[in-house]
Amino acid sequence: MNHIQTSASLVVEELKPILGDRLATSNAVREHHSHDTSWLAPHMPDAVAFPRDEDEVVAIVRACAKHGVPVVPFGAGSSMEGHTIPVRGGVTIDTREMNRIVEIRPKDGLAVVQAGVTRKQLNEELRATGLMFSVDPGSDASLGGMASTRGSGTTAVRYGTMRENVMALRVVTPDGTPIHTGSRARKSSTGYDLTHLFVGAEGTLGLITELTVRLHPIPEMVSSAVCAFEDVGEAVQAVIETVQYGIPVARVEFMDEVAIEGTNAYSGLDLKVTPTLFFEFHGTPAWVDEQSRLVAEIASGHGGSDFRWSTDPDERAKLWQARHDIYWATKAQRPGCELFTGDICVPISRLAESIVAAREDIDASFLKGQIIGHVGDGNYHTAYLIDPNSKEELEEAERLSGLLVERALAVGGTASGEHGIGMGKIKYLRKEHGAAVDVMKRIKAALDPAGIMNPGKMGQEG
Ligand code: LAC
Ligand code: ZN
Repeated sequence: MNHIQTSASLVVEELKPILGDRLATSNAVREHHSHDTSWLAPHMPDAVAFPRDEDEVVAIVRACAKHGVPVVPFGAGSSMEGHTIPVRGGVTIDTREMNRIVEIRPKDGLAVVQAGVTRKQLNEELRATGLMFSVDPGSDASLGGMASTRGSGTTAVRYGTMRENVMALRVVTPDGTPIHTGSRARKSSTGYDLTHLFVGAEGTLGLITELTVRLHPIPEMVSSAVCAFEDVGEAVQAVIETVQYGIPVARVEFMDEVAIEGTNAYSGLDLKVTPTLFFEFHGTPAWVDEQSRLVAEIASGHGGSDFRWSTDPDERAKLWQARHDIYWATKAQRPGCELFTGDICVPISRLAESIVAAREDIDASFLKGQIIGHVGDGNYHTAYLIDPNSKEELEEAERLSGLLVERALAVGGTASGEHGIGMGKIKYLRKEHGAAVDVMKRIKAALDPAGIMNPGKMGQEG
């Protein structure tokens, strides 16, 4: 066991009798927990624990607190900015065995789940109730991880992000105390809003063990449309008008021509290679029909053509699977590459100019890059295809990313709409939040004076 820090080996000794095989120190398991989906350099934890319930999390955190060993929460490993990389070693707490759906209360429109439950697992379980959990980041992320990154994705335009969909939490604080935040009531005016302090804290203030989340009725009818545009500006104008008219689109996704090309190749589609919007409408048949007609009118007014409508579940599933596989489709465009991603969000009136400028930057660069977006929210992703071992490429991606963020902040936007800060975007935190970062640091120091919860991240850096 000479590969692990002495203090970590004391923790392992203490926890072995409690966790048995569910405490791993093998290279393979540690390696699996050394990275996420970002290009950022991996770092191994000393050990990985797989607790089954909150009591075990308490025991792990207490042992780590006693010996000053870092604790790093880990859900599905699909984070995109290095959130789960244990940069200072320590014990990674993988919540995959905390996958119990504790309670579903259809009449209250809520579910209580352990933190390791994934969104697909929950929706599978909900099917018979006629309800759904709406937040859809693409990958089959864990709800604990999604809450920790304040994640969202394609349906946020209609149903909100994790911020709007988490009602209550159970959290183990850095000294190993289990607490609950929030309630099952639809609203409350009591106390500091700790639920929303932990939502988006990226595991730096405590470890979420259980969530109470909102559910929404599965719509009676779902219809989707793909629409091609001559240029990005017109496509985005169509989105802006749709949102400004208050048409409650359930999803409206943008893909630029590079993204369409990659998706056609990877997912076997034959979409026209041009800036494209994917829409989805939810409601009663009459309501879906009306929304579709209104949006088609708006899109046509902006040169939208090649409409492809579908109410066929298989066709829709294929389309959305292709959209969700965009990460892999992009990687396949340059074998062996990693994706350096941007994730800015701007006030919707500034979206068109923002995307056009981002595209111009990429076109003027030697790097290949693409743009996709949850444009109904004013949120989009750039992806630069880089060889992470090339200093020149990495510097260029950093430069492009810097330009993107500067422009977003200049119009009142944010450095990340949904991927979060992690390690990758830490340097933008102060640019965006100014002296408020010092308040964040004071909160971190108050809750985690020893700095053991996901150290080297938000709350300590930036
Ligand atoms: C998406 C992820 C990258 O939108 O956020 O596909
Ligand atoms: Zn996204």
